[in-house]
Amino acid sequence: MRRTLTLFSATLLAAATFAAIVLQPQAAGQSAAPVAVPARASHPSAPYKNPHLPADKRVADLLKRMTPEEKASMLAGSGWMESMPIPRLGIPAIKMADGPLGVRSWAGSSAITGIPGSPLKVLFTSFPAGVAMAATWDPELVQREGQAIGQEVKALGRDMILGPTVNINRVPLWGRNFEGYGEDPYLAARLGVAYVKGVQSEGVIPSVKHFDANNEEFERHRIDEQIDARTLHEIYLPAFKAAIQEGGAWTVMSAYNLVNGVHCAESTALLTDVLKKEFDFKGFVVSDWGSTYSTAATVNAGMDLEMPGGPPMQAWFALPGTRAAGNGAGWLTADKVLAEVKAGHISEATLDDNVGRILRVIFLSGIFDHPHAGGGEVNTPAQVAVALQGATESIVLLKNTRSLLPLNEKKIHSIAVIGPNAVVARTGGGGSSLVAPKYAISPLDGIRKRAGSGIEVKSALGVGMEGEDPALDTAEARARLLKEAVDAAAHADVAVVVVGRYEKIEREDFDVKTMDLPAGQDELIAAVEQANPRTIVVLNTGDPVTMTRWIDKTQALVDMWYGGQEGGAALAAILFGDANPSGKLPLSLPKEFKDSPAAANYPVSGLGAGLKVNYAEGIYVGYRYYDTKNVEPLFPFGFGLSYTSFEYSGLTVTPYVSAGKAGLTGAVVSLKVRNTGSRAGAEVVELYVHDGHSKIDRPVHELKGFRRVALKPGETQTVAFTLGRAALSYWSPEKKEWTADPGTFEIQVGASSRDIRLRAPLVLK
Ligand code: BGC
Repeated sequence: MRRTLTLFSATLLAAATFAAIVLQPQAAGQSAAPVAVPARASHPSAPYKNPHLPADKRVADLLKRMTPEEKASMLAGSGWMESMPIPRLGIPAIKMADGPLGVRSWAGSSAITGIPGSPLKVLFTSFPAGVAMAATWDPELVQREGQAIGQEVKALGRDMILGPTVNINRVPLWGRNFEGYGEDPYLAARLGVAYVKGVQSEGVIPSVKHFDANNEEFERHRIDEQIDARTLHEIYLPAFKAAIQEGGAWTVMSAYNLVNGVHCAESTALLTDVLKKEFDFKGFVVSDWGSTYSTAATVNAGMDLEMPGGPPMQAWFALPGTRAAGNGAGWLTADKVLAEVKAGHISEATLDDNVGRILRVIFLSGIFDHPHAGGGEVNTPAQVAVALQGATESIVLLKNTRSLLPLNEKKIHSIAVIGPNAVVARTGGGGSSLVAPKYAISPLDGIRKRAGSGIEVKSALGVGMEGEDPALDTAEARARLLKEAVDAAAHADVAVVVVGRYEKIEREDFDVKTMDLPAGQDELIAAVEQANPRTIVVLNTGDPVTMTRWIDKTQALVDMWYGGQEGGAALAAILFGDANPSGKLPLSLPKEFKDSPAAANYPVSGLGAGLKVNYAEGIYVGYRYYDTKNVEPLFPFGFGLSYTSFEYSGLTVTPYVSAGKAGLTGAVVSLKVRNTGSRAGAEVVELYVHDGHSKIDRPVHELKGFRRVALKPGETQTVAFTLGRAALSYWSPEKKEWTADPGTFEIQVGASSRDIRLRAPLVLK
């Protein structure tokens, strides 16, 4: 398999190369603008300076005052993470920070917190991975996460966070599955909107990425995805549309890959026709780092800002590996743009539109009137509390036969905590989203702290993690480690085996080679379960893994994903029953890779000439495939157990027509949910729509609503949903619009895509 150079590591190289020139070490909270912005004295009464005028009026006034050279210069960055300022007019650089799972600390033009030897010691809150936050099914919490991240961005004196990632988890092996919000466009849309709202509430600019269909890392700069219009509209576009139309997102980042033969950064079909016309997007499009290949074609397609720019871009692009990896950069520099304007290949109106969009965001976000000077606390108790709540709510209890969990403190005197992911805190996947936190709690730390002095906690590595310590990868070492683990398990009341991957295996720029657990962890689980049947297996990954070799014998199985810095504390709270598991799977877990709908059309197996990947499964992604084609997954979408039980009853579906409109315009769906067990807990109620009558082929059902409900023992709550016509619609390739065919739909409410508890008809005339 061909491997591309990691932009992440290329970035570090660029940082090192340019350290002497551009790296200005900043103390926490200081502004890191590379170019000083002088006082705005040149036009004291200019309308564009009036914060009380609407942004569009300010943009129009400012555009009139700009020279063509100044306008052209704004289409490319000035540094690795900064847009181009125009000091003469007081236009600031937009200073960016990587994300989305917290702030990856950029300061100066190219510097990252956590680099050994780096003078930068600003450490940020590491939030759970996107897939974990999706497992919370809690948009309100994701909004608070976005807000906390916005606060940390400002504390660093930056203006923009490069997230959220709303790409759909199409393939179990995608190296960036951990970053996304799962396999369902409705769920991804709800969480993307929440994240955007949270970030923007702090006057910080989010960037919804990667537009569009960045669903694999393999050859990510050259891969050409063949996706039909219906599949794009139903699966790969809704989260972007919602982030723009409901979240009001100020920017979108284009993807590296090609879609239907055209690089996303120069796709008129995607950037202009879909984003700017169909979705009425008024913000700007930023390129992914090094994803441009032309000047006029890129600008005319609707790309507004090329990143990175300036000397860091030139140095990075001069590195031999950068072009070899397929990156493109340096196309929207002022001279090139200006030449194309002069040649008539880019119209002045287009240039004004591009620059106007950037200016509009600068005004709307408030950074023109109130620059983020930096300062303020990071990693505050309130921010950390959001990370902990996210980690706790995200944990999915997948199996609990014989009620091994929660641990009974009265009966347990010793616990063996085993595994390469037990002893080390694995907070997230690798690449641009990995945050260097102030501290990170490993499962062992968390369990030890919670167990206190009354319970003995032993630990054993079990296996050395792949790629970490070659000394542990000899036959002798492997046998020794396994024996230590088995001994520890055999002499403990309970064993907890934490298995998974880490940031070098699940990461940006690489796909995962196999769904199987690395480093002999299957054998480790089997051996520990053999030594002690009271074994709890904990998964610490972002991607699905093969479990067939041990799952039948496993009594308790918990998925903790990558839980950020508080992951170990959250796990301990769940194991000991301080918190009741409430997470549900945001993606189906197939039994084996070959069961995945994309397996036959994944690059390694199905690559045709020209690096083309046929999205032949079409709209049948995730449960849309498993449930429609009757392929049984190991654990279905939306599944998750609790220490209590919930009963659903009294489903009613009441259609309504808004005043003055003909026909059905919506329905109110209502039901009762009762906690029938003896513990407080939260249930995620899922609403699916089944359409069995339409002329067009449709999945057996699709998620169109969900709600987290917290219930005390014995408590009942009424849960209500409002469904619009959109919930009944599919995207018609003939009409090129969303359509609902008259007939009888079925409203389904349940606890997972395969555990539908209540059904009722809804008639559309
Ligand atoms: C990633 C983006 C990231 C950018 C800047 C790219 O390699 O795909 O998600 O925001 O780098 O670091």
